[in-house]
Amino acid sequence: MILVTGGAGYIGSHYVLYAHQRGEQLLVLDNLAYGHKESLPSDVPLIVGDMGDKSLLDSIFTTYKINAVVHFAAYAYVGESVTAPAKYYANNTVATLAVLNAMRDHDVRQFVFSSTCATYGNPSYVPMDEKHPQNPINPYGESKYFVERILKSYDHAYGMRYTALRYFNAAGADPEGSIGESHDPETHLIPLVQQTAMGKRDSISIFGTDYDTPDGTCIRDYIHILDLAQAHALALEKMRAGELSAIYNLGCEKGYSVREVISACEKAANRSIPYQEMQRRAGDPPRLVASAAKAKNELGWKPVYEDLEEIIQHAWNWETNRKY
Ligand code: UFG
Repeated sequence: MILVTGGAGYIGSHYVLYAHQRGEQLLVLDNLAYGHKESLPSDVPLIVGDMGDKSLLDSIFTTYKINAVVHFAAYAYVGESVTAPAKYYANNTVATLAVLNAMRDHDVRQFVFSSTCATYGNPSYVPMDEKHPQNPINPYGESKYFVERILKSYDHAYGMRYTALRYFNAAGADPEGSIGESHDPETHLIPLVQQTAMGKRDSISIFGTDYDTPDGTCIRDYIHILDLAQAHALALEKMRAGELSAIYNLGCEKGYSVREVISACEKAANRSIPYQEMQRRAGDPPRLVASAAKAKNELGWKPVYEDLEEIIQHAWNWETNRKY
């Protein structure tokens, strides 16, 4: 059985859907601070609790035959992490350590970790490969970077095998529309643009139009949420087959500007979307684009939904028919 922490969150729930459809036995641990229990298949058990709770973890590992952990649980608001770093280090780093210690104590040695391109900080070159220097520029990125360092030590000392997946910008939704992105508050570009298209917001703010990019706005690499899910499944498969620990970037290897995202959303919604040009948002690198060659070559990862318009169409289908 696989323990999925944060399995009721945006990325976690899409992994649960994907793995469940492929016959994996799953157990979700989620405190529902940001997750939605409606996002889980009815026959996947959910334990509502805190991943930093040692006695809860001991009882989970004693009660269920867990042989791997896929770890999504984390706070992920970059801006908040700057003003409330304690929350981020306590949850994303210290509570993750509790999960790893429980795994070690109960002899569970396979761990898939949701890492992030935010561990790189400002790019010194793009596309960024896994060898790019890691200099996070906010506590969110730091909190994930520390876990990567801990994993390296735990592998060395305790034989804890891990795969750290450094996501670029997760986007889209289940193409069937059963689940999708639902953050409160929402800070991510695509849902905000689409909520503006629906009239739920007056306009979308473009944060910075004076970047050194072709249209002056920031460039990001948007990766479909189910392609992320696929990579987690492949990572686990590799570890089950005895592969050593590894780190992979996950992105489409293509960058789109904020203006291009807005245009693609206009096309999907078939209407024009009001925007306002604003100051830059603190901590935004101008351009983040992945090299995902390593994941493709070593994991055999094959992204299915690489077209931005398709990613945005799936997000739009969800946004206009959301269930939670
Ligand atoms: N943006 C706007 N207006 C908005 C919201 C966003 O112009 O209202 C711009 C941002 O400035 C950025 C781009 O749209 O240039 C994408 O912003 P998101 O907030 O959607 O995502 P980020 O690029 O900030 O994502 C980052 C990291 C991820 C990390 C994530 C956590 O790239 O690795 O934050 O939420 F996981």
